Amino acid sequence: MDESIKLTIDGQPVTVPAGVTLLQAAEMAGITIPTICYHVATTSNALCRICVVEVEGARTLVPSCVAKAADGMVVHTDSERVRLSRRTILEMLVSSVDLSEAPEIQTMMAEYQADPQRFPDAERREPPVLDDNPMYIRDYAKCILCWRCVQVCAEDAQYTFALNFSGRGYETQIGTFYDHPMPETTCVFCGQCVGVCPTGALKPKREWLLEQGYSPDEVMELTRTDRRRRRRDSIE
Ligand code: SF4
Ligand code: FES
Repeated sequence: MDESIKLTIDGQPVTVPAGVTLLQAAEMAGITIPTICYHVATTSNALCRICVVEVEGARTLVPSCVAKAADGMVVHTDSERVRLSRRTILEMLVSSVDLSEAPEIQTMMAEYQADPQRFPDAERREPPVLDDNPMYIRDYAKCILCWRCVQVCAEDAQYTFALNFSGRGYETQIGTFYDHPMPETTCVFCGQCVGVCPTGALKPKREWLLEQGYSPDEVMELTRTDRRRRRRDSIE
C-alpha cells in the first residue's frame, strides 16, 4: 500500500501520498499557489521563488514547487510574510524586464499589489530582437530567466541542447553556444521552447511579423522567401 502523510495547509487537514511537493499537496487540497518558473512539462529548479510558502518551524520561506510535503507540517500559503515576498519578487522582475506580454504575471501583480515603479533606478534589459531563422524570434528584453526553454530543449524533452545560460549575475542570459545564429546550432525547430515560454520572449516568426504590421500575405511571402534563402545558403 502506498504510504500517505498528513499535514495542515492553511488550517485545512490534508492527506497526500508521500513524495509529493507542497505545491502538489496544496493543489490536492484545492489551494492554488502562484508559479512562474514551474511548468508541468519541465523539471523545476526553483529559480523565481514566487511559489514560496511559510512552514512553521522553518527559518526561511520554502519554494513549494520543489519542497516535499512531510508528515506533521503546518503550512501557510498566503500569510503576510509570503505575500510581501511575492510582491517584492514581482516588483524586481518588472523593474528590469518587459512583462507586457506576460498576462499571468500581470494578473499576479494586481493580486499582490506590486508597484511597477518600486525600483525606478534599476537597469532594464533591452537587447535587440534576434531574428536569425524562419521559425521564431528571440526577444530577450522579455526574458525572465525561468529556464523552461533550456530544460525543454535538454533532458526534459528534446535532448538537443541548443539553448543554455551564459554569463554571471546581472549579465546572465539565455543563448546559444558562442552566440551562434540558431540555424548553426543543434536546434531542430521543434517549437517546444516557444510553447513553454511564459513571457513572449520566444515567439513564432509569423506572429511577430504580423505584430510588426505586415499583412498575412506579406508574412507568407516573407517566411517562404526566408526559408528558400536559408536552404540555398546551407547548400552553398
Ligand atoms: S526565453 Fe522564455 S522560457 Fe526561456 S528563460 Fe526566458 S522567459 Fe523563460
Ligand atoms: S515556481 Fe517555484 S520557484 Fe518558481
